[in-house]
Amino acid sequence: MIALASDHGGFELKVEIKNKLEKEGYEVVDLGAYTEESVDYPVYGKKCAEEVAAKKAEKGIVICGSGIGISIAANKVKGIRCALCTSVEMAELAAKHNNANMLALGGRLTEKDLAFKIVDKWLNTEFEGGRHERRVKLLDCM
Ligand code: RB5
Repeated sequence: MIALASDHGGFELKVEIKNKLEKEGYEVVDLGAYTEESVDYPVYGKKCAEEVAAKKAEKGIVICGSGIGISIAANKVKGIRCALCTSVEMAELAAKHNNANMLALGGRLTEKDLAFKIVDKWLNTEFEGGRHERRVKLLDCM
């Protein structure tokens, strides 16, 4: 299960990503927002992060206008490693080195085709483990 959430600034891109993932056969839960009406990104970042932390979803994708606010919100939840990615290379490293269980995107800064590539890379890259395991463990006990 992949949990998705956005504020109004990320709404449009979230819908695109949701449709794409569903078409590819992923099970997806959309935790809102459900319209482009102005809402507060901390509410949605937290909601999605809690779903992942509770293991109701394996991974989460959060989107606000820049991706910054909603990633900050998600990272306040224990056990969450949310990576704001603006390139395919960042998405690869977020999975390989940081074992990021959440991805954040900026709906107003990252266009759809690049966002799709970022999502694909993040979902399809394995955590490397090894020396990174120790570092991720240190993150998780902060
Ligand atoms: C909302 O206007 C905007 O501030 C929000 O989507 C996000 O970019 C915050 O970090």
